[in-house]
Amino acid sequence: MRVVVMGQGYVGLPLAMRAVAVGHEVVGFDVDTGKIKRLVAGESYVEDISNHELATALASGRYIPTDDPIACAGFDVAVISVPTPLRDGNPDLTFIEESARLLADHVRPGATVILESTTYPGTTEELVGPILEASSGLVAGDDFHLGYSPERIDPGNPTYGLVNTPKIVSGVNEASLASVSRFYDAMVEHTVPVSTPKEAELAKLLENTFRHVNVALVNELAMFASDLGIDIWEAIDAASTKPFGFMRFTPGPGVGGHCLPIDPSYLSWRVKRTLGQSFRFVELANDVNDHMPDYVVRRLVVGLNRHQKALNGSRILVLGLSYKKNTSDARESPALVVVDRLLAMGAEVRAVDPHVQLGHVDRRVARVEASDDEVRAADAVLILTDHDSFDLGAVASTARYVLDTRNCVRGHSVETL
Ligand SMILES: NC(=O)c1ccc[n+]([C@@H]2O[C@H](COP(=O)([O-])OP(=O)(O)OC[C@H]3O[C@@H](n4cnc5c(N)ncnc54)[C@H](O)[C@@H]3O)[C@@H](O)[C@H]2O)c1
Repeated sequence: MRVVVMGQGYVGLPLAMRAVAVGHEVVGFDVDTGKIKRLVAGESYVEDISNHELATALASGRYIPTDDPIACAGFDVAVISVPTPLRDGNPDLTFIEESARLLADHVRPGATVILESTTYPGTTEELVGPILEASSGLVAGDDFHLGYSPERIDPGNPTYGLVNTPKIVSGVNEASLASVSRFYDAMVEHTVPVSTPKEAELAKLLENTFRHVNVALVNELAMFASDLGIDIWEAIDAASTKPFGFMRFTPGPGVGGHCLPIDPSYLSWRVKRTLGQSFRFVELANDVNDHMPDYVVRRLVVGLNRHQKALNGSRILVLGLSYKKNTSDARESPALVVVDRLLAMGAEVRAVDPHVQLGHVDRRVARVEASDDEVRAADAVLILTDHDSFDLGAVASTARYVLDTRNCVRGHSVETL
């Protein structure tokens, strides 16, 4: 089959690689010329895809990375995996709209279009379908298949990837569902069919909202526990021994990445817009999680104060800038918010992160290695992301004062969130 994957990012590139591996001829389309150049040169920018895997796909002759819209012609299946950010707090679906408009020029009777981007319920049927129909003159469901299948990829997860994570599938009618299922049945171990795209769209937002709300719960609890002089981490470890009815979530400096800070707001926007009601859980979780960077800075101020230091003028060594461990993804990273706050308060910020590229970080931040000298010279070491490559034992034994927001190291100089 000829498959077009719109968007060659964290979601689209692994999908394209898998489609090549199962024997399809794949066009990886992206509007970012720089990314396409790197892919053509065999250079992967997505951690889960090795250069070797990319080279194998290119060498097969069945993977064409391109920014040329004409290459999208003649597809049997097209998958849309483009960004769905917020603009002024509201869903920004322009990337999906642009992709759908491009595919509308090429959709043929019998072809299948699948949306994978995370979005509010109704997007597939109310936005993508009409765009595809408008310029093609074809009817979704009758002439071509249309469906939604949310991506559940967890970048950097060594246990669960695209193939062994069950994939929810849906279609605008039975024929569409059958076609979408057929496509993914050949790519992943399990597919989970649901009745309509709206259930699939909601399922994805439910998963991320569940996580967002529970992270907010432990974040708020962490602040109270600290004031009450109780070790939240020990309490979480103890609660996690319950074999049923409890799921472990841990506090941190805030939420980041392309999912938690954004997706729940797609749902609350939809609820507000359609029902005129507030989704209070989402609003509360946003409020708690958004304030965690400020809380981290406050804790640092208090910690430095105990050492007779002011944050203004202090040298702070930040460990980790990405939003979670072992990834280069710094999108919406709370670490960057913390860094901005520290700079604004006059701190000298130096940062260590072997994964995150320079461009993401304020120019005033010196990028350094976590050498003994560097750690020793810092008034405080602030652990924001617990990358496996950090030698935190060495840091804890050398540093004067460590504030650890991830509970990844203990020692006499270390204070946890
Ligand atoms: N990253 C994750 O862990 C993850 C997990 C599940 C779902 N998602 C969802 O998947 C979608 C894609 O996320 P991502 O992380 O892959 O984003 P990404 O930014 O890594 O990749 C998206 C790519 O789409 C390209 N693009 C933008 N407009 C385009 C267009 N009109 N045509 C073709 N390409 C275009 C961008 O240049 C970019 O390379 C989002 O809706 C996101 O919420 C992401």
